[in-house]
Amino acid sequence: MFPSEVTDFFKAQKTPFYYYDLDVLNETLDQIKTHGLSKGFHIHFALKANNQPKILEIIKKAGLGADCVSGGEIQRAIDSGFNSEEIAFAGVGKSDEEMKLGLKHDIFCFNCESPQELEVLNELAGQRNTIARIALRLNPNVEADTHKYITTGLNENKFGINASDLDDMLDKLPGLKNLKLIGIHFHIGSQIEKFTPFEELCTKANALNDHIEEKGFELSVINVGGGFGINYAHPNDNSVPDFERFFGLFEQNIKLKDHQQLHFELGRSVVGQCGSLITKVLFTKYGQTKSFAIVDAGMTELIRPALYQAAHRIDVLTSSGAEETYDVVGPICESSDTFRKDISIPKVERGDLVAIRSAGAYGEVMRSAYNLREANPTFYSDEVG
Ligand code: LLP
Repeated sequence: MFPSEVTDFFKAQKTPFYYYDLDVLNETLDQIKTHGLSKGFHIHFALKANNQPKILEIIKKAGLGADCVSGGEIQRAIDSGFNSEEIAFAGVGKSDEEMKLGLKHDIFCFNCESPQELEVLNELAGQRNTIARIALRLNPNVEADTHKYITTGLNENKFGINASDLDDMLDKLPGLKNLKLIGIHFHIGSQIEKFTPFEELCTKANALNDHIEEKGFELSVINVGGGFGINYAHPNDNSVPDFERFFGLFEQNIKLKDHQQLHFELGRSVVGQCGSLITKVLFTKYGQTKSFAIVDAGMTELIRPALYQAAHRIDVLTSSGAEETYDVVGPICESSDTFRKDISIPKVERGDLVAIRSAGAYGEVMRSAYNLREANPTFYSDEVG
């Protein structure tokens, strides 16, 4: 948890705010280097998980590339020091302006998801007299066994190209003179805690790789996306995900040809455990059947519990008394503005500080101004002391 000097620092700040432990981030990046980069894998950090410039600069320095899903993210990646040749651009609905930005910077690769997108990108690249490198995002129809809002690799999802459309698209590609097919791309979902979906992905990717190469295309990029989950229940014991097992699985199961390189797009597993949302108890309220700890952070600061029923660990930082059972709720006028129901934590009083853990990924980036709430400054561990 947090040493007393960190808690003292928190006491002096305006809550709620995000706090990032850069030691945890650096330990995570060290493991990624040891078990992923050292094997020659290319790892693009998914900016959608966290786009704080300070975090991005550290990730860039560690040797990761960037995975972007909007023009704004491409611009942020470039501003944070990523080279355009390490930027991949994904997304099921890219606007013309966004594609033009990618073309202007001659980014590494566009991950394309539909026949129409190929035609538009081909036309825009033609207008610039350039060739866009593309990867086809294929839908492998793999069950990721995660929350239904963050599963993406099934036929029923809007993402990717279904197997039945693939050959048609491959036949059309030679006619699209301003596109160069360099790879295939997959992403089956997020917060995947089991390893079997990734094994299944490898099997499907190997078959599709063979199929496309047999048709005479040379694929240099096999991009298996992201999705590796983190331990929300025990962030202290598992502050760094088991990258040895994760990358080892792909090393064993993906069959790369000599001219091919393996790419990943990791978001949550890189930054999830380094961030916490620090909030203060405003009131305690004792109802007939429930006790509520009402904190000053809400679904506006961290929407994951409301949107995906996510259970983030809650640590009380300024009380260690006997435990009581609370619903920890925010101040927003929505019943879904609840962080946890019926959890046992030390008894809290007005003014106690609470940390909502594992909030480094899809936390601050999904913040909203609903209820006209203001955002307070963010802090990093190197600013303490
Ligand atoms: N690549 C693609 C194409 C993606 O769509 C995503 C995430 C990633 C990579 C990174 O996945 P990760 O390694 O972070 O699992 N807001 C949700 C998660 C949405 C994930 C969207 N796509 C949440 O808070 O759980």
